[in-house]
Amino acid sequence: MSTISKVAVAGATGLLGKPVVNQLLEDGFTVTVLARKGASHDFPSAVTVAEVDYEAPATLVKALSGQDAVVSAVGFAGLLQQIPLIEAAVKAGVKRFVPSEFGGDAENDKITELPMFVDKRPVKELVEKEAAQGRLTYTLVSCGPFLDIAVQHGMLVNFKERKINLWDGGERPFSTTTLAAAAKAVTGILRHPEETKNRVVFIRSASLTQKEVLERAKKAAGPEGWTVETPSVAESLRAAYADLNATGVVNRFAFVVSAIWGEGYGSNFQKLDNDLLGVKELSDAELQTLIEGFAK
Ligand SMILES: NC(=O)c1ccc[n+]([C@@H]2O[C@H](COP(=O)([O-])OP(=O)(O)OC[C@H]3O[C@@H](n4cnc5c(N)ncnc54)[C@H](OP(=O)(O)O)[C@@H]3O)[C@@H](O)[C@H]2O)c1
Repeated sequence: MSTISKVAVAGATGLLGKPVVNQLLEDGFTVTVLARKGASHDFPSAVTVAEVDYEAPATLVKALSGQDAVVSAVGFAGLLQQIPLIEAAVKAGVKRFVPSEFGGDAENDKITELPMFVDKRPVKELVEKEAAQGRLTYTLVSCGPFLDIAVQHGMLVNFKERKINLWDGGERPFSTTTLAAAAKAVTGILRHPEETKNRVVFIRSASLTQKEVLERAKKAAGPEGWTVETPSVAESLRAAYADLNATGVVNRFAFVVSAIWGEGYGSNFQKLDNDLLGVKELSDAELQTLIEGFAK
């Protein structure tokens, strides 16, 4: 496959989109961001801004013509907008599509059975179908929870209230990746289009258990006064489905918990593409420093 140099980014204003754009620029790619009509934005001056309307496919085809790749970092509310985006990418002759996946094991269908993640399935199925017909290539990124964001938001450990959940006892290992490393993986994919063609890539900054997170948290913030709970993932999932049936509300937290700490979701990755993509695992000291950074 020929070299990829021109890259369009969807969802460029988001949590993941911003570091992706910055990493692409840093690594020498020519970046066009797809800006939704009327949305406010503040992009780096080095990017080209193409205004698009996901409901007007011609605007997408126009924005994508001449692009080698599309990286999608759209948030949950926009996941299904990737369907017209993929169709436009095919029409425009884009070579590689990187969907907004960036979660747990994308080869494990149990994840997309969870209501929170259902919209990721038709996107994956469409890129697979287009790839099977030779009209596009794709790469899906499995990175586990964003490590820094999950600590910052109290998902792994809540420093503010000195609380932690050891789900199912806290001994099940899971892979986790910093936001910056996930962005680095994207440029790694685009630099290695042949090796990453039509498959899931697996990366991580660390493999952890909640018991290890607790030990590290105690080391960072002192050993006293922690509230440690050991909830059941299955119980939490049952309650979330009961809520969903009763109220129609998706308990995002419970479904994310299930994908990370539930049995059979494949969240401790067994095969890694770190070396290929230039993503480093954190050393013991780096991991501790990262956690300590959120302990204050
Ligand atoms: N592994 C993890 O821990 C983790 C955590 C969070 C997210 N993720 C994944 O990372 C990907 C990106 O998530 P994110 O949290 O970065 O997303 P986000 O910040 O919530 O949103 C990203 C962008 O999506 C765009 N968008 C397109 N259509 C939209 C719509 N209809 N409504 C709202 N926004 C829309 C917006 O950008 P424009 O205005 O520029 O179009 C928005 O800034 C997702 O696949 C998500 O599942 C993973």
